[in-house]
Amino acid sequence: MARLGVVVMAAGRGTRMRSKQAKVLHRIAGRPMIRYALDLARRLAGHSVAVVVGHQADQVREVVESALAGQRDGAPVHIVEQKQQLGTGHAVLQARPVFVSGRGKEPAAYLILNGDTPLLQEATVQELLRVHRSSGATVTMLTAMLEDPSGYGRVVRRTAGGAQSGAPASADVLKIVEHRDATPEERAIREINVGTYVVDGGFLFAALEKVEPHNAQGEYYLTDIVDMAVKQGQRVSAMPLSDPDEGLGVNTRQQLAEAEAVIRQQIRGRWLEAGVTMVDPSSTWIEADVAIGKDTILYPNVTLEGRTVIGEDTTVYSGVRMTDCVVGNRVEILDHCVLREAQIDDEAHIGPFVHLRPGVLVRKNAKVGNFVEMKKTDLGEGAKANHLSYLGDATIGKGVNIGAGTITCNYDGTNKHRTVIGDHVFIGSDTQLVAPVTIGAGTVIAAGTTVTQDVPSDSLVIARVPQVNRAGWAAKRRALLSNGVPAGDTPSKSRKASTALSGKKKKR
Ligand code: UD1
Ligand code: MG
Repeated sequence: MARLGVVVMAAGRGTRMRSKQAKVLHRIAGRPMIRYALDLARRLAGHSVAVVVGHQADQVREVVESALAGQRDGAPVHIVEQKQQLGTGHAVLQARPVFVSGRGKEPAAYLILNGDTPLLQEATVQELLRVHRSSGATVTMLTAMLEDPSGYGRVVRRTAGGAQSGAPASADVLKIVEHRDATPEERAIREINVGTYVVDGGFLFAALEKVEPHNAQGEYYLTDIVDMAVKQGQRVSAMPLSDPDEGLGVNTRQQLAEAEAVIRQQIRGRWLEAGVTMVDPSSTWIEADVAIGKDTILYPNVTLEGRTVIGEDTTVYSGVRMTDCVVGNRVEILDHCVLREAQIDDEAHIGPFVHLRPGVLVRKNAKVGNFVEMKKTDLGEGAKANHLSYLGDATIGKGVNIGAGTITCNYDGTNKHRTVIGDHVFIGSDTQLVAPVTIGAGTVIAAGTTVTQDVPSDSLVIARVPQVNRAGWAAKRRALLSNGVPAGDTPSKSRKASTALSGKKKKR
């Protein structure tokens, strides 16, 4: 609608959540709840959007602003503060300066959205706007028929015998009664107020000015404008949802979990439709901002979070959790990996049991295997770190082989230091690289070496305790032990053998 102003109410505390965090900040499929109403508002507004914040205003403002950052499309958004949360009517009234000022015309109509109704679909609201225009109503509201309407405001319609629960959905709407203010007869009404309204400009703020807090909660109810419109002889129309689930208002953790389940199901449906295979969709968790390429296969119990992007023909096995990762095409990620803010290029192999922490780049065709942890490390094309290693603050060249048990000793207790390994270096098992250190290209490091100095290219580095072999020593010891010499004693004289065992030099 060309001149549609939208108000999103997001100032409430959400007492029924029993949370330290404002209700609209709770996440659903990885997005703060407020994002759902905000995104909808921006797609629909022809004028501008006012978001009313109050409880934990700074945090809610931050979430709104970060959602807007980088988004060019959509209506301008103004954040207004409701200093005291005196009710939904009072909340909407705070948005008036955004729309009614000396300059410019007031919007022809307003769309008002509760910030806690995340399942609402754009097509439904478009339909509501059409109904509003075609019915010539002053107020048009969305309703739902629920098996269990408790907690919601009830829609009271006119019947031949007065207002009652048996009124048909076509009868005139008289008023909305909040659950706490409703009579037993009104509580029996199954048609509820979803909290989505279209209201004519000119009427909305004039009516809100007159709302009074005469109710069980002592609040200024937005819903009172329905009764006011009816009393002024204005038309009020109501559109029942064909899918009542869309009207779910999230007031409790139970409802939060219900919304989460519905949205996750929708997200999975979209990716299945787009050509992603899920071996077991019900155990596959994909957050709202994730993107996945065609012919990628997700095994059971995969969790994809944040802004993770996965390419095509990639396979992700069970128990993998990825957060804000970028994964290329034809990558294989074996079971039970925790990957965060890592980039994994085409044809790389990861896992099983790999931990990639922020700042990791695994280049094309590289391999990271069993029990390897990496952080801020660039692993070159075709390089391999297949077993039991810690690689932190390192740049590792092309085709490098990192032997089992290699550790970059990057932290001296105060500062972190870098390790640089040139192309085609071979690092033997159980090597420690004490950073800062640079290993020239093509070098071979012998197993068990502790590297403390830079190494030129194409060298051999070996730094380990020389080996001592004593022929027959073990057999003699066994014989002595079987003759009752206490364990720990030695083949010849206990002192001599124990020095040999401890590796001290023995005279020959
Ligand atoms: C509201 C409706 C109820 C409807 C239900 C649908 C009113 C009086 N009642 O009840 O008829 O069935 O939604 O889900 O409107 N808010 C503010 N400032 C406030 C109070 C609330 O911004 O002072 C915001 C909240 O953050 C929330 C929205 O308004 O996003 C609705 O508030 P909530 O307390 O959840 O209202 P309900 O009791 O659910
Ligand atoms: Mg609510």
